[in-house]
Amino acid sequence: MPEEQDVELEARLADQERFVPSESFVSQANVSDDSVYETFEEEWPECWEQAADLLDWNEEYDTVLDDSNPPFYEWFTGGELNASANCLDRHLDERGDEAAIEWVGEPTDEENRTYTYEELHREVNEFAAALKEMGVGEDDVVTMYMPMIPELPIAMLACARIGAPHSVVFAGFSADALATRMNSADSEYLVTCDGYYRRGDALEHKAKADEGLGGVEHEVSDVVVVDRLGDDYDHPMGENHRDYDDLVADHAGAEVEPVSRDAEDMLFLMYTSGTTGQPKGVKHTTGGYLAWTAWTSQAVLDIKPEDTYFCSADIGWITGHSYIVYGPLSLGTTTMMYEGTPDHPEQDRLWEIIEEYEADQLYTAPTAIRAFMKWGSEYPDKHDLSSLRLLGTVGEPINPRAWKWYYKHIGGEDCPIIDTWWQTETGGMMVTTLPGVKDMKPGSAGPPLPGVDVQVVDTDGEQVEPGRAGHLTVQKPWPGMLRTLYQNDERYVEEYWAEYSDTDSDDPDDWVYFPEDGAKIDEDGYITVLGRVDDVLNVSGHRLGTMEIESAIVGVEGVAEAAVVGGNHDVKGEAVYAYVITEDGYEEGDEMRDRIVEGVEDAIGPIARPEAVVFTPELPKTRSGKIMRRLLEDVANGEELGNTSTLRNPEIVSEIASKVGDD
Ligand code: PRX
Repeated sequence: MPEEQDVELEARLADQERFVPSESFVSQANVSDDSVYETFEEEWPECWEQAADLLDWNEEYDTVLDDSNPPFYEWFTGGELNASANCLDRHLDERGDEAAIEWVGEPTDEENRTYTYEELHREVNEFAAALKEMGVGEDDVVTMYMPMIPELPIAMLACARIGAPHSVVFAGFSADALATRMNSADSEYLVTCDGYYRRGDALEHKAKADEGLGGVEHEVSDVVVVDRLGDDYDHPMGENHRDYDDLVADHAGAEVEPVSRDAEDMLFLMYTSGTTGQPKGVKHTTGGYLAWTAWTSQAVLDIKPEDTYFCSADIGWITGHSYIVYGPLSLGTTTMMYEGTPDHPEQDRLWEIIEEYEADQLYTAPTAIRAFMKWGSEYPDKHDLSSLRLLGTVGEPINPRAWKWYYKHIGGEDCPIIDTWWQTETGGMMVTTLPGVKDMKPGSAGPPLPGVDVQVVDTDGEQVEPGRAGHLTVQKPWPGMLRTLYQNDERYVEEYWAEYSDTDSDDPDDWVYFPEDGAKIDEDGYITVLGRVDDVLNVSGHRLGTMEIESAIVGVEGVAEAAVVGGNHDVKGEAVYAYVITEDGYEEGDEMRDRIVEGVEDAIGPIARPEAVVFTPELPKTRSGKIMRRLLEDVANGEELGNTSTLRNPEIVSEIASKVGDD
């Protein structure tokens, strides 16, 4: 394109506040009729039968929503189904020979793997048989500590087949984090692997898994190890360790009848960060969750069975559970998995994959988009990305500049972008435009989905005026919602409902879900999510609790006290800033800083590594002793310091600020 024209285009994109989906997209979209919003409102909650209808049920449900005991809502009660059968068996007749998973390993000299539905079904059955033989029974929690290799979704679906909930721990988390989660879930089984490839290196994962197992307080019955690295890593096997390939070979051709699960039976647990140091075990169920992910995959991601759909998230987080595994597979489409980082071997790896596989959708995170922008448009420009029909983002706010870059350079100004707000707890998407129905406004996720009652309210629970900031709330239950925190109903009510509900009431209208996000709403009902209002950070789209990081730092010898806040970061969104007071007799300096970074990596993982460690003799505290995090955030961001008059020690703030400036 001639240069002048490009400048003109930039100017036009910069001014444009509203983007209209192309006619060619709308004409083929799964949902293109605006009336869906009104219909769902009028027919709520029966509207969600539409989601349930996307699934095969062994036993029809009697009631769509049982709201007799809020906030312990139940969906599709009386219904029975199996998630593995819904993701595999029912597609065999029509799509048995089509690809279910296209897996791309990081090394470019290695063969990629394709699993047809037939092949995936076979291996899931074989592994399910192996799990059964190991003694895994219905409702036994099986932990998976695995990177992006096909055996991870296989193990998840094998568990779903026999009614054993899985608990996947992100492979980037530390050994300690694995132990904490296995202890909390009383999980006696672990599926892991020897290692994986990351930026060209073979990472030895098994050693970390073994270390984690050392911290498990109960007896671990069996550990299954997938051999990913072959000769690159000769991993030791413990007494109760079993080789995945041997297990599958021993059960070659086995068929395991999918267990009929009650709609409300647990499908999986996923641990996520909250305000306290202890991660929360979010419980998702079989019927509501699967219906939710299937419906949103169809309506929002516009997935059709013949698509090749690419989500670049990691299955260790909720996005991968819902939108690499359960949603796409329940619709019988081809879902892609990529093992490595987008900059290996070059910064065009994703574009190369999209071109090669002719992907129809790309669902990624703003952090990735900001990195792509930084690397430059020459990388996507080298590739034919015309197969793409839709783009999506998730995990953090996306600024209009990044949105427009994505729209232009990846979508060729022809793909609608869905900016989807949701959480581990919501199971699937909640606020986003329906791409075949609504215009897009860069920076704003859009209106709530049909049938989803999201309101932005003030501290009294009253709706705020358009343009004013308030708290995001969900005023009605939805099928994909978490049901509780594992074995902790009390904390479930306390964390999500207490803020805006009358907790003594059994009238569902008195119950409001609070996701701990701030937001604004405009005249058209479009919601802009501003970020967390609790002590949770969002680093590269990864959710981390400040308390978790603080307790890791305080665990380091010589640290007396620590406060962690998020500072702005142009690629990561937020970065971890740690303010640390050392104990008498310990020296501040590089050695201490290194030990602190190591302490955080050991307790949580490299994703939580502090960007800056600032030593200080005191932390700014109110007279009642509360740390003023807002001021520490201002310091991290180099902003003018807010009001310090309520502090017991106001002078400390400028002292800390000068230290950050020196860094
Ligand atoms: O703060 C919101 C942010 O990510 C949080 C949820 O994190 P997690 O449970 O790890 O799930 C991430 C993937 C769904 C939310 O509380 N968030 C998520 N999506 C968006 C977002 N913030 C702004 N815009 C989004 N589209």
